[in-house]
Amino acid sequence: MTAALELRGLCKSYPLRDPNGWLPRYRELRVVRDVDLTVESNSIVGLVGESGSGKTTTGMMALRLTEPTAGRILVGGQDITRMEAAALKPFRAKMQVVFQDSYSALDPMFTLAQIVAEPLHVHGRGSAREQTETALDWLERVGLHRSYGSRYPHELSGGQRQRVAIARALVLRPDVLIADEPTSALDVSVKAQIINLLQDLQAEMGLSILFISHDLSVVRSLTDKVAVMFNGRIVEEAATEDIFIRPQHPYTRSLLDAIPVLNPRDRRDRVFRSREDLEADIPRLSAVATGLPPAPTPRLIPHGPGHRYEALVQ
Ligand SMILES: Nc1ncnc2c1ncn2[C@@H]1O[C@H](COP(=O)(O)OP(=O)(O)OP(=O)(O)O)[C@@H](O)[C@H]1O
Ligand SMILES: [Mg+2]
Repeated sequence: MTAALELRGLCKSYPLRDPNGWLPRYRELRVVRDVDLTVESNSIVGLVGESGSGKTTTGMMALRLTEPTAGRILVGGQDITRMEAAALKPFRAKMQVVFQDSYSALDPMFTLAQIVAEPLHVHGRGSAREQTETALDWLERVGLHRSYGSRYPHELSGGQRQRVAIARALVLRPDVLIADEPTSALDVSVKAQIINLLQDLQAEMGLSILFISHDLSVVRSLTDKVAVMFNGRIVEEAATEDIFIRPQHPYTRSLLDAIPVLNPRDRRDRVFRSREDLEADIPRLSAVATGLPPAPTPRLIPHGPGHRYEALVQ
């Protein structure tokens, strides 16, 4: 079956500012490097990793909202990497995004019905009346009464705004949803409700979701597969349970060790490892980060079915 979304060798670099002219030659900051990631159809893939590791940049490139420096993006098997605006438009409808901070994404001047109906209007789906009807249906579907259609974003709680953002993202019935920390601004109980909503909608619609998150317990309960990013690279990828039970890469291990354990009997032998210790363990990775030429190349090597992790290959 064709994957919903495939990223092949995706890279993003930004020119390094050098106001004093101290750098010997043109230097760039490589924020995403050689990312290969497949989101299978009707599945949820988690993308985790520390702040600044390149998760949002990867998601924005998948949506063609940030242009990649190199690599390819395939949506339903079709290469959209170089597509012009007109050809890209139908693919824009197939891929949607929900961010952590939906308040800035919801125009304060519009009613919720207008906000949810807007993508239908942009893509010319149905008459104005049908668009409003569909928008009200979607408000209901995400757990808000139809009467919310005439309300404005500022009247809503954080959780309700996230529901509206989800309705707006799904109203075009996309194949792929990029959810970038959709619950990290929410309280624990509200967070659980939004996760349940996403899970239900995914199952009903056969949606494929790239779920970017810092919350590893949510990732464990929600996703089918997890990719771990570190310094712009995917350093490990496996089926969710596999990665939680048999993490191979030192960075993945340290990430999992940072999850608080509620029951002391579940506590494994945990060793707190500083970032410095970790980088000492992964000398090549830090060499890559500083732009020094790495000698042996880090490569993803297989570790059982569907499981790969980065190790040095001579
Ligand atoms: N426009 C830009 N110009 C220069 N550097 C950028 C730009 N956008 C992002 N970066 C850098 O790229 C790196 C990756 O950023 P990104 O937002 O993708 O990380 P992230 O994994 O989503 O982090 P977080 O978990 O904090 O959201 C960061 O070091 C960031 O400073
Ligand atoms: Mg981010």
